[in-house]
Amino acid sequence: MTKLWSGRFRDRTDRLVEAFTSSLAFDRRLYAHDVQGSIAHCKTLKRAGVLTSRETAEMIRGLEAVKAELDEGRFPFVPEDEDIHMAIERRLTELIGPLGGKLHTGRSRNDQVALDIRLYLRDALKAMTGRIEELERALLSQARAHLDVIMPGYTHLQRAQPVLLAHHLLAYVEMLERDKGRINDALARLNVMPLGSGALAGTNYPIDRRYTARLLGFTDVTENSLDAVSDRDFAIEVMAALSLIMMHLSRLSEELILWTSQEFQFVDLPDAFCTGSSMMPQKKNPDVPELVRGKTGRVYGHLLALLTTLKGLPLSYNRDLQEDKEALFDALDTVSASLEVSAELIKGLKVNRDTLKRAAASGAMLATELADYLVFKGVPFREAHTVTGRIVRFCLDHQRDLETLTLDELRSFSERFDKDVLDVLTVEGAVERKAQIGGTARKRVEARIKVLERALA
Ligand code: ARG
Repeated sequence: MTKLWSGRFRDRTDRLVEAFTSSLAFDRRLYAHDVQGSIAHCKTLKRAGVLTSRETAEMIRGLEAVKAELDEGRFPFVPEDEDIHMAIERRLTELIGPLGGKLHTGRSRNDQVALDIRLYLRDALKAMTGRIEELERALLSQARAHLDVIMPGYTHLQRAQPVLLAHHLLAYVEMLERDKGRINDALARLNVMPLGSGALAGTNYPIDRRYTARLLGFTDVTENSLDAVSDRDFAIEVMAALSLIMMHLSRLSEELILWTSQEFQFVDLPDAFCTGSSMMPQKKNPDVPELVRGKTGRVYGHLLALLTTLKGLPLSYNRDLQEDKEALFDALDTVSASLEVSAELIKGLKVNRDTLKRAAASGAMLATELADYLVFKGVPFREAHTVTGRIVRFCLDHQRDLETLTLDELRSFSERFDKDVLDVLTVEGAVERKAQIGGTARKRVEARIKVLERALA
């Protein structure tokens, strides 16, 4: 078997080099998009008068036959197939004869692969958005189911102020909304058609590139052939967006790990999503969120790898660019799987209402309410803060909870305390008073749930 480019060579390729340069093992997954691109290229060649109608029809039939073989896993790969592009063209020629040799007219693998990755990403990113929405829906439905549950909100991992569990869960939905936005931004920028750039300089054939773009659903064509065959910033952008998704999933995972620990016991994960220990019979380990957290590093690594590959590459195409695919594909697979398991985890989350309620009622989390009470009575905030600080100190010294203090005790710290202070010292009141946009008051949170539910319906 000779290679499609073997004309100028006297000696056959070394086996070692064949193995080292081959991308088939990982670019096979581009096959459907490669065929899609080739069919559009055929039609463009016909319009340019390069192929006859009969040739075009025969070529498209051939390409569809090749695709069917690939779909059904009966495509006969051979060791000389350097990548999926050459494998498909080789097989096409076997099936339809010398006519297959006309497919690559006015095209190079350089613009072909740039096209294929874009086509592939368009589909992959749409699917990714679906996965994000699945997780958003899981979070929203848990939020709705627990609208009455108050928990401690944290800063510095120290109990700070009471918040609704639903508010906490919705924080992740906001992150995921931005993640979707980033994916859509990347999609809009990568939806540009590179075919017709040739190897690097453009093409000699009078092809209508805008026609190809229309056939394939691109909004535009690339404006510089050198850039078109060597640009991978769209892939980097996607991986940056994927890295941010993983960062968010990793934070969510970390909270699930913390919250299921015996120290917190805020929630339980479904048994089916945990694993046991080979030695300690009592263990129920949160391996799934741990792995999501762990895989985050791997996705960041892929981003850095591709940034590094591109750094300092002279224009235009260099074989280094083949390294884009494994990084990109693994990042996509990892994020997709992580989103999928995270959604299931959230769906199966069991909330320990009593533990959360107890936790929300302790730890002097109403101190800020007390300070704000004094402010409403005309005390400057800084002074109110100091007075309240002294009250907290008193509680710590005498092992008392803030909300158990009597009016007389409070008045010994400030004359401004009146009977109505006792209403302020409730966890529910503290939550309800955070009634501005973005606050944790129940009516705000409920309204936001509605908006998000409608957007995702
Ligand atoms: N497998 C190659 C890649 O993924 C396709 C382009 C090959 N081009 C070339 N001039 N060798 O980048």
